[in-house]
Parts: sequence; C-alpha cells; structure tokens
Amino acid sequence: MTRLTYSKAEIETEHDYAMSHVECGLKLHGGFSEDGLYLSPRTRFRWPAINAWLARLQDSNLAIVDATTALLVEPNYPSIDQQVWLLQQGVEQPLWDSLTITGLIEGRGRALADLSPPDFALIINEDISETALGHLGKGLLTTHGWDEGGNPQSEAGGHDVMWYATRDLLFGKNKFPVPVAPASISREKSSREMPQIGAEYEGVIAFLMNLLMIEVRAERAFDFYERVIDHPEVFADKRQEAQHAVALINRIRQDESVHVAWLKAAISEFRHSTINGLDGAEISGAEILDPVWEKMVHWHAVEIHQANRQNNRAELKAKILAAANGASILAAFEKLEDSVDA
Ligand SMILES: [Fe+2]
Ligand SMILES: [Fe+2]
Repeated sequence: MTRLTYSKAEIETEHDYAMSHVECGLKLHGGFSEDGLYLSPRTRFRWPAINAWLARLQDSNLAIVDATTALLVEPNYPSIDQQVWLLQQGVEQPLWDSLTITGLIEGRGRALADLSPPDFALIINEDISETALGHLGKGLLTTHGWDEGGNPQSEAGGHDVMWYATRDLLFGKNKFPVPVAPASISREKSSREMPQIGAEYEGVIAFLMNLLMIEVRAERAFDFYERVIDHPEVFADKRQEAQHAVALINRIRQDESVHVAWLKAAISEFRHSTINGLDGAEISGAEILDPVWEKMVHWHAVEIHQANRQNNRAELKAKILAAANGASILAAFEKLEDSVDA
C-alpha cells in the first residue's frame, strides 16, 4: 500500500546526494544522483508523498484543480522576440532587472517556512491525516519556504541565489544597480470572501490559491527566460555561460513542479471536503472555494497584467531610450509588438 502519512522530519529529509550542487563558487540546495541527475532539495519523501496524495484523489475520481499556464490568457510583455531584439542591440538592463526582481521575490518566499497554519482537522468532517492538507504544518510549508529563499540552518542557497547566479553568468556581477521589486504580487482583499469559515482558515486557503497562481505565473516567466537565453542569436560571445544559465533555470523549474503539485493536491482536497461552517451547518468545500478560485485565476491571469501594463511599458521604454540609438531601437521594438509568444 502506498503510504499517505509522513512525519515532518520525513517531509524535510534530503536525498543522499552523490554530488553536491555548486555553481559559480556558490553552494546551492539539492544535489545530484550517481547518474548525474539533479535531485530537488528535500524531496526524498516529499515527492512520493505528494504523488500518493494526488493518486488518492484520482483513484477516488475527485477532480484536481486545473492550474496550468494555459490559464494565462494575456501575452507576456515584452514578447520573446522583443526581448531578443533588445539583447541583440546591447540593451541589457531590462533582462538584468527582471532576473534580479525574480530573485528578490523568490527570496521573500522564505517567509512561508515561518507560518503556523491552523489545524484544518478542526473544521473538516473527514479524516485528513492522509492528505496534503493534513501535512501543512508537517513540512510542506517549511520545505517550500526553504526552497524559495534558503534554509537559514544551512549554507546552501535557494532559488533567490540561483537566480542571481543565473544573472551573473550572463552579465557579470554588479552590471546595473539592484532594482526595486513590487511590494506584493498577490491578490489581497480586505473584506471576507469565505464567511462560512473562520478568518484564520480563509487566510490560509486564499494564501494557498494565491501561491498556486504565482507558481503558474512563474512557470511562464521561467519558460520565457529559457527561450530568450537559449536563443542562438543572443549572448553570442558567451554561449557556454548561456547554456549553463539555462541548466540552472531548469533545476529551478524542476523544484517548482513540487510546489505546484502539492498546492494542487491541498486545494483540491479542501474542495472535496465537508466543512463544518461557522453557523453549525455542513457545507461542501467546493461551494466555499470555487467562486473565490474563479476570481483568483482572473486576477492573476488578466487583471494584474492590465493594471500594470501602462507602468511596465513606460519603465521599459525609459530603459530603451537610455541606450545609444535608443529611439531607433524603440521604434523597431514597438513594431515587434504584435508578435505573439507561441
Ligand atoms: Fe521558487
Ligand atoms: Fe515555488
């Protein structure tokens, strides 16, 4: 029988690595198998556990929430062609800034490790000891936070450090000043949207949904970076470093797939649960969650892009115009506007 219950220590356990993960002189999380395969940090039990929880849902014919980049209907800005064009023209600051901000945001993710979630067993009728939701406080949040921003108990760098290493491989250190990252990338509501449950539970469920959509947006951003950096016509004098950068990005993507998987499991489990509402009545998790999930997807897929569009364009324009020949580079850049990222 597949195991569905794990201790916190197990979820946090590393593989026995044949080789440690070191890049650009930096000790990084995870490691390599005998065969040279990259193994994500703390996944010796975490991956089998998540796969078992997802399989349990599938075996019971319980739908797993749909969360893929196909939800992101607004095109990426700039497009791949536009970003490639800027690099070809020697306009490097936009990609530098973008990679740095990604690292800064990843670093903030470490805060997840310090959350202490309320016990969902207190409001869910069914036994949740064999679910992801039942393991929120048993290693799923700590490992996730450490993946993003490093474990303070270890010297190995997390995703933040991996992005800075990627950037420095491509551009060298300190090429531009460190930009300011946006204050928040979550959909935040001051009023209650799940009044059927206590605010502490709503907070966690909304947080997990935000996190899942942020991971989905990240997946598209990482695909964008990879396609740009892997493009044969950029970084012509450092193709080797560019290949190396792509390898690092792929390791980050492999780590992120763990995050998407457990979040999908936990949110789906809540949907299929019977909740003891605040008013004493039983209510299905789906009834509480679905209307909010719909708003969440729309916010991350559409609203945030529309809200930021003008600002993003103005900022990028200023960076292009700061270059020698900026005006003509910008004119060609804008002509590429209609190209769509396939
Ligand atoms: Fe990450
Ligand atoms: Fe993540």
